Amino acid sequence: MRKIGVLGGMMDPIHWGHIRAALAALNAGLDRVLLAPCLTPAHRPQPVASPEDRMEMCRLAAQADPRLEASDIELRDTTCYAVDTVRLLMERYPDARITWILGADKLQSLPRWYQAETLFSLCDFYVCPRPGYESALEAPGLRLRVLDSPPLEASSGDVVERLHALDDAPELLPREVARYIALRGLYQPDFVPVLRQYGMGDKRLRHTLGVRDTAVELAALHGVSMQAAALAAMLHDLAKPLPLERMQALTREYGLDLPEEITADGNLLHGPLAAAIAERELGIRNEAVLSAIACHTTGKKGMTDLDKVLFIADAIEPNRMDYPGLADMRRLAKTDLTAAVLLSMRRTKEYVLARGLHFCSVTEQAMQDIIEQEEEKA
Ligand SMILES: [Fe+2]
Ligand SMILES: [Fe+2]
Repeated sequence: MRKIGVLGGMMDPIHWGHIRAALAALNAGLDRVLLAPCLTPAHRPQPVASPEDRMEMCRLAAQADPRLEASDIELRDTTCYAVDTVRLLMERYPDARITWILGADKLQSLPRWYQAETLFSLCDFYVCPRPGYESALEAPGLRLRVLDSPPLEASSGDVVERLHALDDAPELLPREVARYIALRGLYQPDFVPVLRQYGMGDKRLRHTLGVRDTAVELAALHGVSMQAAALAAMLHDLAKPLPLERMQALTREYGLDLPEEITADGNLLHGPLAAAIAERELGIRNEAVLSAIACHTTGKKGMTDLDKVLFIADAIEPNRMDYPGLADMRRLAKTDLTAAVLLSMRRTKEYVLARGLHFCSVTEQAMQDIIEQEEEKA
């Protein structure tokens, strides 16, 4: 008889604590463990991420072992009693014996679960030790086994806190889950209404989301925080829809000290201005993110990897119409961020000079800085 375990919970988001428990259950003899996010436990606050997103994160987390599987069994529209879930699983897997996996923190309330005696007769229980919680329980008919799993001192709340600090939390979150969170903007405010408020239309919003996708991919490749890249991308063109006069008025209002060659040109000014708005109006305090937003139009001396990720993602995102050098930039960005940025700046310089326009001295300095650094390396 196959042995199938089910690990339920909000999974908001799923983290290594859940996955380790599931792996320990496999080690204890189960053939398969279902990672089953639940819909709306009556006694707890609503999850932040949607059921679909929590399912998808479970699917990604299940890649840790072929015997793990995301399951929608607990995404039912009614109160999810364990006894009902077990019955449904017995219907779905008639040849299997079901094991309920739970943390020691929930163990002592088990005898008070709905129809507990019936539940005990239908399935086995595995308990994951938790520091500060008793792992033993005697109850009539209860078949309980304590798992040998190293306790992880982390909760989804800890994970969310780290995400708010724009940290991918690699020791708590599988990389693919952190990547999904960044790509979908989960556990961050929804900035789309703010972008709309500043006058962003559909086309530029598509561009913004394309920049976010590209920035997250590049961040993953180059060891930069995916959460920071996603946030910077989301806000980088915030000020772009504003008319130049309005940009200049806000620049004065915020007391931004910028050279005239930048304040005279909305194509350059919207970067530093977006950073000022993000900081003062949206409460973004992360200096690295503010820097990337501010310099996405001109570059600057001493660009960080995050600065470069946003700068080049802006230039190569998938909605961009083809232009000379684009294919090279896309290829280069995957292997050499700095070279891609330099190529992009060179192309811009050629374009600007060919039209007899002024090439921004800040960008010129950024290019010289990169060239000098590359020479030092070589
Ligand atoms: Fe921009
Ligand atoms: Fe942009």
